[in-house]
Parts: sequence; C-alpha cells; structure tokens
Amino acid sequence: MLNADRLPPERTGPEPLRERIAAELLAARARTAALTDCVDERELTAQHSPLMSPLVWDLAHIGNQEELWLLRNVGGRDPMHPEIDPLYDAFEHPRAARPTLPLLPPAEARAYAHEVRGRVLDLLAASPLEGVPLLDEGFAFGMIAQHEQQHDETMLITHQLRPGPAALSAPPPPAADLGRLPAEVLVPGGPFTMGTDTEPWSLDNERPAHEVSLPAFRLDTAPVSNAAYQEFIADGGYDNPHWWTPEGWEHRRRASLQAPLFWQREGGRWLRRRFGVTEPVPGDEPVLHVCWYEADAYARWAGRRLPTEAEWEKAARHDPATGRSRRYPWGDAEPTADRANLGQRHLQPAPAGSYPAGESPYGARQLIGDVWEWTASDFLPYPGFRAWPYKEYSDVFFGPEYKVLRGGSFAVAPVACRGTFRNWDYPIRRQIFSGFRTAVSVDET
Ligand code: AVJ
Ligand code: FE
Repeated sequence: MLNADRLPPERTGPEPLRERIAAELLAARARTAALTDCVDERELTAQHSPLMSPLVWDLAHIGNQEELWLLRNVGGRDPMHPEIDPLYDAFEHPRAARPTLPLLPPAEARAYAHEVRGRVLDLLAASPLEGVPLLDEGFAFGMIAQHEQQHDETMLITHQLRPGPAALSAPPPPAADLGRLPAEVLVPGGPFTMGTDTEPWSLDNERPAHEVSLPAFRLDTAPVSNAAYQEFIADGGYDNPHWWTPEGWEHRRRASLQAPLFWQREGGRWLRRRFGVTEPVPGDEPVLHVCWYEADAYARWAGRRLPTEAEWEKAARHDPATGRSRRYPWGDAEPTADRANLGQRHLQPAPAGSYPAGESPYGARQLIGDVWEWTASDFLPYPGFRAWPYKEYSDVFFGPEYKVLRGGSFAVAPVACRGTFRNWDYPIRRQIFSGFRTAVSVDET
C-alpha cells in the first residue's frame, strides 16, 4: 500500500454529524422546491423531452427512495403506500414511458415527500448514527441527501430541455482576472492512490482505494473552451471521418450532429439557448453539451486524446509533496464559493481557467465544478469492488457501454462531488452538463 488516500476525517461526535445531516437534507429539499415551484402543474406533469421524466416523477421518486432507505431499511417501518412503489422504481419503467403512468399529481407528490421527510427528521433525532453499517457515520442519510441532489441536477437538465421562457435565474459567476495561464500541466509518471476507503459518504463505486501507476502525461490546465471548440467546427471537424471513431462517425451521421446541443447558426455566428435565453456563444466559457464522441473527435483533431479516468483522478488528487491523495484538488477542506462552481449557485460554468483557489498541486484548474468532464474510460468496478448497499446504484451499469465523467458541473451539489466521485453515461448523451479537457502522453525515451 502506497499511502492512505487521505487522513481520516476528524471525529466530531454524533451531534455535529446530526446537524450536518439535517443541513444537507434541508439544502437538498430547498433546491428540489426551487426546481418544482417555479413552474405550473401542467409543466410539472408534462414530458419536456423523451430523455427525461416529468418533473413530478423525480419529486415523488425522491420521497420514495428516502422512505425506502431511511424509514423502511434503517427505521424498520412498514411501507406508507406500497402500491406506488413500482411507479417510482427507475428500473420498472424507462423515462420515456413515465408520463403515461398513474403518477401522484403534484400536490400529492409534494405532500408525500413532505410527510416522509418529517418522519425522517424524527428518525434522525433518535438514531445512534453507528452500530450498523448503513448508519455508520450517517452513511444512509448522506446517500439520500446525495440522491436528492442528483435528481435535482436531473431536474435542472429537464429545465434546460424545456421550451419556452426561463423559469429559473441566478447571477453569473464573478468576473476574475485570470492572467496568462499555461495551456497544460505536466503530471510526472509514477504511482498514486485511486479511490477511497475513508471518505464517509463515498458511494460503492468509489471504493476501495488502490494503487495505480501511470506514465507521465500532460493535461489541459482548464476545460476546452467554446472558442477552441469553434475552431474544430470551422475546420470542418464534423465533416471529416478522420477525427471520429467508426461508432462516433456513424452516430454523427445518423444524428446529424453539427455543433454542441442547443447551438444554432444564425447570420454567420453561433447562438446558444440556455435556460430559455438565446445569446451568442461566449468564447471563454468551457464547451458544454457535447457527447463523448464529439469530445473524442475534438481531442484527435487537436493532436491529443481524452484523459483516462485514472489520469483525471491523479491530476485532481495526488499531492506530489506528500504522496497522498487528497479529497479535492485544493486539499481536504470542503468546497467553498472561491474554490469551485458547484451547487447551482450559477446557472452556467465560469470562464475556462477560473478558480485559482481551487487549483491542484500540478496547477490544473476547475477539475471540480463547472462542467462534467468526459474521460476515455469505460465505467468499470475497481479491483475488490463490493456492491453497497444496492446493486442498482452502480453494479448493473458496469461495462463498456458507459463512459465515465468526472469532476461535477455547476449543477452538482458539494455533497455529491469530490475527487473520487464517478459519474457515467452513454457516449451519445449530451443533454447532461458535459464538457471535457484533453491530454497527451509524454514521450519519456
Ligand atoms: C450516477 C447520475 C448516473 O441519475 O442515473 C439517481 C444517479 N442513481 N438515482 C442517475 C442516480 C439512482 C445516477 N447517475
Ligand atoms: Fe434515483
């Protein structure tokens, strides 16, 4: 074993932990309310895209998962409404089929989630927060806070796909003087610790910690910008199969891809629609809403490649001074507003190169927050993986049909984001808040 992946968390005792859990549950519910109170009943029950559920499905599903894991599995209670369970089981009905189900109407979905939450807070007040694995360090509560926040990001994607005027608003990220940044950083070859054994609310696919040795590589300091991506488009990147994998080219043709999702060409320039507002594409922002095939083609055009998942994590976590892997690029301290663009504080990524306070030891920026970053890697279990506490979180998704995304977007809550967090999706997906950065191997001969 190389080094502990991080120092053990400070033992804070049960009361601060209880308060932290209550605060995370509250924050998640406030965000859920903001995402569902800003539209009318018709909009809540409508399907805005076949890729997404009606918002009212996410709302009741959030309550149903909370009831299942906290009230039933932790608290030993009987189901409140067993007849609705199959409606909100994500594996029973694909998203496209959910609008035709006899879903709880908005008022009932809200009341159900609210009633579950009231009982959960009672359970939390009485819980020892230890003694059984599900409760250790408050894990099941942390898992449910993360689950709600993950569905909040999903609902934000639904808002982005929704036609019509904006229902949400937020201030833009603060302007920053970025100076002149080097285009790339060097990560020397050698071992590092990937994954974690100690992060209390890490999910099963982040475990266990294991040593990975990598050859040296260079990584973009910041995510690829719209301006850089527009050069690829202007150079005919979408018309040249040379840059695309065979599957990528096939998909590019069949789906008629010509630019990132939500872009349109008008009067010789690119416009982009975001949360109901159409505006010229800002060159300095990280490119968003590209699929894995587009990211991969861009990288090849640029004479580079996507980083592997292990390369991404080494660049984000490894501290060459101590040999230890950190929780975040900047260290072990929690994310703050000056370190990362997280939590839907803004409804957009900050300019590429922002957040100097969030820089990694190697000098890479924005690894956490702003845009999810596609990696070259398939979604696979780490050596020694154990499904916990349910196979349907990760285990059933492992395999070559999913690609890994890392780092979280502006729409990811801090509680669901860290250097070890793994996301995955199909390589054709681009309604998600996905961007990328590129890498290149260093010839050490
Ligand atoms: C980890 C984001 C791929 O939304 O499908 C939510 C998270 N799992 N409910 C998803 C999740 C169960 C998951 N992702
Ligand atoms: Fe879910």
